[in-house]
Amino acid sequence: MVSFAVVIALAATVAAQTPITFSTIRPSYTEIEATAATAPVGELTSNVNGHAFNRFIQIWLENQNYDTAAVDPSFEELAKQGITLTNYWALTHPSEPNYVAAVGGDYFGIDSDNFERVPANVSTVVDLLETKHISWAEYQEDMPYAGFEGYNFSNQQTFASDYVRKHNPLVIYDSIANNKERLSNIKNFTSFYYDLQNGLLPQWSFITPNMTNDGHDTNMTVGGKWSLDFLTPLLSNSYFMKNTLILLTFDENGTKSIGNKVFSILLGDAVPTHYKGTSDNTFYTHYSCISSVSHNWGLPTLGRNDYGSNVFQFVAEATGYRNKAVDTTGFYANSSIPGYLSSKQWAPLPVPITSGNVLQSVKQTWGKFGGHSPYNASSPLPYDSFYAY
Ligand SMILES: *[C@@H]1O[C@H](CO)[C@@H](O)[C@H](O)[C@H]1NC(C)=O
Ligand SMILES: *[C@@H]1O[C@H](CO)[C@@H](O)[C@H](O)[C@H]1NC(C)=O
Ligand SMILES: *[C@@H]1O[C@H](CO)[C@@H](O)[C@H](O)[C@H]1NC(C)=O
Ligand SMILES: *[C@@H]1O[C@H](CO)[C@@H](O)[C@H](O)[C@H]1NC(C)=O
Ligand SMILES: *[C@@H]1O[C@H](CO)[C@@H](O)[C@H](O)[C@H]1NC(C)=O
Ligand SMILES: *[C@@H]1O[C@H](CO)[C@@H](O)[C@H](O)[C@H]1NC(C)=O
Ligand SMILES: *[C@@H]1O[C@H](CO)[C@@H](O)[C@H](O)[C@H]1NC(C)=O
Ligand SMILES: *[C@@H]1O[C@H](CO)[C@@H](O)[C@H](O)[C@H]1NC(C)=O
Repeated sequence: MVSFAVVIALAATVAAQTPITFSTIRPSYTEIEATAATAPVGELTSNVNGHAFNRFIQIWLENQNYDTAAVDPSFEELAKQGITLTNYWALTHPSEPNYVAAVGGDYFGIDSDNFERVPANVSTVVDLLETKHISWAEYQEDMPYAGFEGYNFSNQQTFASDYVRKHNPLVIYDSIANNKERLSNIKNFTSFYYDLQNGLLPQWSFITPNMTNDGHDTNMTVGGKWSLDFLTPLLSNSYFMKNTLILLTFDENGTKSIGNKVFSILLGDAVPTHYKGTSDNTFYTHYSCISSVSHNWGLPTLGRNDYGSNVFQFVAEATGYRNKAVDTTGFYANSSIPGYLSSKQWAPLPVPITSGNVLQSVKQTWGKFGGHSPYNASSPLPYDSFYAY
């Protein structure tokens, strides 16, 4: 019986890994134009009340050290209107694994910005949201059309980088990319402004500015100014601000040889008034982006590093959750451990926790497979925190 179950799991897996062609990864401009003309654009809306917020928007900037961001005038201005998170950590270097982690609860050993695909049997925050029909989308600036799967899209005049797949977390998961309907919810900024103007924004979204605006190809001043200019009108927009929580953060610290703490701010009208202009030294990681959403809407966990992860403190206060203090001595989070998508050392996909408050499909897929889970449901530190590699 046991080996039969394994054979079924492997057969399902082979079918799921549909081959991806060169023109999907590196399409020509002509191919892009042709596909753009007919690509469906998804439109999900819902109104499911949460304990602490009804809408969550995360905006990711690039590669700045904590200290540089903290003294940037635009960030200082935004910090006055929200909660500064003084103990929020990225997980590794370079960019891609950090983005991947923030939606799937692990980075699966990724240690590069290569074209990666996380197997279809790995669930994401989208599976959690869908248990309660909570609408979601990504908004990727300068993505040429909704659901574009290519590696990058450049400015067609200057050929400077605009959109890059490595900053688009959900498209990297086959559980999203293999499903045309889900894929169509990965949209660009044209769609963001359309959705904003027409009252069609989803309840969960992930926003990636282009490589100029996110500071990647520029600097903190440009990234900070873009953030202030983008957010200021939104913060006083009465449709946008309806119990809305915004997380403004960085994918990783700019210096690989030190700890990977990143500067982050929580903004929006969901932030209790008495917390505006304050700071919060609770230990958070990118996995808190998933756990805070789960706790807010009473959703299950993915059974990965999100399970024990601390929850934004004002959200924890609204749900009665008790965050744990963490001793960060020796915690650097500045390199990846071996894993399924490591370029240096392969290791199998970690088995998730399959008991307790875990998504039903995770229990079904992985439970019968057996095996020990390395994740710890009662630890806010990722399981691989002190692994020397
Ligand atoms: C998940 O998919 C991967 C890749 O196809 C495969 O190696 C693994 O055995 C699968 N695990 C389960 C539990 O189905
Ligand atoms: C954004 O996506 C839409 C829908 O797929 C597409 O028609 C449009 O050309 C894209 N906009 C930009 C600026 O690339
Ligand atoms: C992707 O990037 C390469 C190298 O930077 C560039 O030559 C190419 O035109 C880009 N592809 C698209 C579709 O913009
Ligand atoms: C990024 O977007 C801004 C508008 O938001 C635009 O001015 C800039 O030229 C874009 N970057 C590139 C490299 O095209
Ligand atoms: C950041 O880049 C902008 C635009 O290129 C430039 O004007 C500014 O001087 C730069 N700031 C710093 C601190 O390097
Ligand atoms: C991570 O940071 C620690 C502490 O600064 C340092 O000793 C170590 O070499 C860094 N690791 C990498 C891969 O840079
Ligand atoms: C991230 O980088 C800055 C350097 O500006 C450093 O001061 C900060 O402490 C770093 N984070 C950690 C946790 O070391
Ligand atoms: C899990 O985390 C808890 C709390 O941080 C810790 O006390 C416990 O030892 C951990 N369990 C394992 C197996 O590491």
